[in-house]
Amino acid sequence: MAIRCERDWHKYFRKPMNRHKIARKMKKMHKTQEFHRPVLLNEAVEGLNVTTGKWYIDATIGGGGHTGEIVQRGGKVFGIDRDSQAIDEVTRRFANEIELGLVKVVKGNFSHITKLTIKHSIPDIHGVLFDLGISTHQLQKMGRGFSFLRDEPLDMRMSQSEGVKAAEIVNSYSWNDLTEVFQKYGEEVNAGQIAEKIVQVRKQKPIASTKELADLIERVAKGHQKRIHPATKIFQALRIEVNEELHELKTALPQVLEVLSPKGRIAIISFHSLEDRIAKQFFKNKERENQIRIITKKPIVATDNEIAVNAKARSAKLRIIEKI
Ligand SMILES: C[S@@+](CC[C@H](N)C(=O)[O-])C[C@H]1O[C@@H](n2cnc3c(N)ncnc32)[C@H](O)[C@@H]1O
Repeated sequence: MAIRCERDWHKYFRKPMNRHKIARKMKKMHKTQEFHRPVLLNEAVEGLNVTTGKWYIDATIGGGGHTGEIVQRGGKVFGIDRDSQAIDEVTRRFANEIELGLVKVVKGNFSHITKLTIKHSIPDIHGVLFDLGISTHQLQKMGRGFSFLRDEPLDMRMSQSEGVKAAEIVNSYSWNDLTEVFQKYGEEVNAGQIAEKIVQVRKQKPIASTKELADLIERVAKGHQKRIHPATKIFQALRIEVNEELHELKTALPQVLEVLSPKGRIAIISFHSLEDRIAKQFFKNKERENQIRIITKKPIVATDNEIAVNAKARSAKLRIIEKI
């Protein structure tokens, strides 16, 4: 049976004792896997309408899959990522292009996109790409705390040099706040019960590891048959809260429109309904104000063929607009 990501756990759900077996299998599998397999690669880059010699911003450069394609089509890329491991990876990968002045990479948050483009003197920006969420590398790399399939410190920060760790949230938020995070970002139906268990358990000893949290969630979820592993949504919710992912996107979008040249395009690949809603709403408002033209009336989704080789693509939605 093919297991490509944690969501595929449900295929094993009838054998709940297999969590460690799956983790071992995934670890072995990912030893040979690439940093990140880009989602909707052709569709997103096609949507940017790449013109030779013009500058594009890859606001979430990750392992550089989309950047590679933009460069292949003749574009120059200013790549941003808040994760220094991603920056190290793309600096290695694009060493020649960096030397030739075709690619520039910088560690930073895309919510500072205006400041970053000014600081690095990026002229005339013809397109901006966001490929939101986390990379395979972040999920699989030991010690980052994103995965409930391994036992490691509850961290989940994309940028390891700043911000609040997931453990601090789990051990300090009130029952109310935890419930809200789990409901809002995870759409978890047992949010209140899980928050209650967390508050109860942490009175004895702080919850420090992914395993402690996953075991606790499993205990609460026992008896509730689920299609996916019970920790999936809670881990997703915590990741969004730790990295302030929705705030980052809301802050970046108006800046992106500002720095973009007329006829420039924005392509956004999202994996969460709240992110997609932020993009959709922002674009609708700007269309009403006659600032943009919406290229994708309905979001583009991955083909069955892509989903068959990359399960992460299942929830991806791509929206593209053009500045007027
Ligand atoms: C899905 S991966 C991108 C993969 C990339 N398109 C590729 O083909 O390899 C998302 C990346 O965005 C980065 N990221 C997420 N939020 C960010 C933010 N607010 N500012 C900068 N980088 C961010 C993550 O660290 C991660 O490396």
